[in-house]
Amino acid sequence: MQSTSENTVPQQVAIALGDRSYSIDIGTALLHKTSSFSGLPRASTAMVVTNHTVAPLYLEQLRSALAPVYPRVLQVSLPDGEAFKTWESLNLIFDALLANECDRKTVLFALGGGVVGDMTGFAAASFMRGVPFVQVPTTLLAQVDSSVGGKTAINHPLGKNMVGAFYQPQRVVCDLSTLDTLPERELSAGLAEVIKYGPIADMAFLDWIEANMQGLRARDTRALAHAVRRSCEIKAEVVGQDERESGLRAILNFGHTFGHAIEAGMGYGQWLHGEAVGCGMVMAARLSARVGLADEAFVGRLQTLVEAAGLPVTAPVLDAADNVGRYLSLMRLDKKSDAGEIRFVLVDGRGTAVVQGAPDSLVAEVIAESCQA
Ligand code: NAD
Ligand code: GLY
Repeated sequence: MQSTSENTVPQQVAIALGDRSYSIDIGTALLHKTSSFSGLPRASTAMVVTNHTVAPLYLEQLRSALAPVYPRVLQVSLPDGEAFKTWESLNLIFDALLANECDRKTVLFALGGGVVGDMTGFAAASFMRGVPFVQVPTTLLAQVDSSVGGKTAINHPLGKNMVGAFYQPQRVVCDLSTLDTLPERELSAGLAEVIKYGPIADMAFLDWIEANMQGLRARDTRALAHAVRRSCEIKAEVVGQDERESGLRAILNFGHTFGHAIEAGMGYGQWLHGEAVGCGMVMAARLSARVGLADEAFVGRLQTLVEAAGLPVTAPVLDAADNVGRYLSLMRLDKKSDAGEIRFVLVDGRGTAVVQGAPDSLVAEVIAESCQA
């Protein structure tokens, strides 16, 4: 990563949710500084939840930052991967909290990507009916999306993120320096969620992403800082209007209806979440064109950008005997479904998204076209 001194001063994005408001702090070298965590709820114990990959990289830095504030800094390390976003892993957090006699003031710190963040948030929402937690996201995907907005969950074998709660963190600390160690495939996965914000809200941002894709993939600090900040601003605006997804917030799921079907159908962890979302966005753009919302030029533009981010654009065959049927049955489980009708986030190619159903025949055409190598 090319560092610049101006980015060592964190930029802040505010999430305005009344008494659940908080800030997202974005900068370099934040993790090891006690000042990054000042003003949080006081407690005798902090519990850092992380995983076996992130712990050796960043746990000691975070522990040393928290030690002057919290008399006891504990840790629990979970197995790594989407396949472990389960009840069993969640229970490891509860086991550690109870074995250490943690009380309802204990503050949880989620150190890792979206999997750790979603599980830590759910543990915080439910341990003793709710304890405070802080997001310390270490993947690009988590910094631009999953750590913000309070969605927490674990997966069920029948569907992704099916068991969870809305529960807001006290703060999000995005240390861009942690992206230095992120594998390239994971960086690309994060770029999918960055790209998402363009078609649903801000085409000028899409122009910027196209112009800066090289810098983003080269981990240029200025480019990453802008991408994280603008993504968080757009998400903050949406979440501020519709915290619990009674309407507008569903647009943040652009690409996710097809994407979640890919993830579940392939087996969690085969395709990364961001890879499935990237391919899912191209599929959703195709469907937008079929229903007459967007034009083919936009579909081509989005596909080119997703490919430039290093993401797959050909969808996998989930069932050789009945591929369309398998996609449709998985998508019916999507949380946006209404009385069995699958609802998609569709875009007009001019920065506006709508959530609506589409005829199965058109969805089937999109699946067939998208799965062709
Ligand atoms: P992840 O949490 O699995 O992290 C990706 C990989 O990178 C893991 O192997 C992890 O150990 C490793 N890693 C993390 N930080 C690292 C670092 N700095 N250096 C090296 N390796 C590092 O995946 P993700 O893409 O961060 O998150 C995906 C999850 O987020 C999915 O479960 C998805 O459902 C969820 N999600 C939630 C929301 C939400 O609003 N809550 C939004 C989007 C996605
Ligand atoms: N990632 C979708 C949402 O937060 O609503």
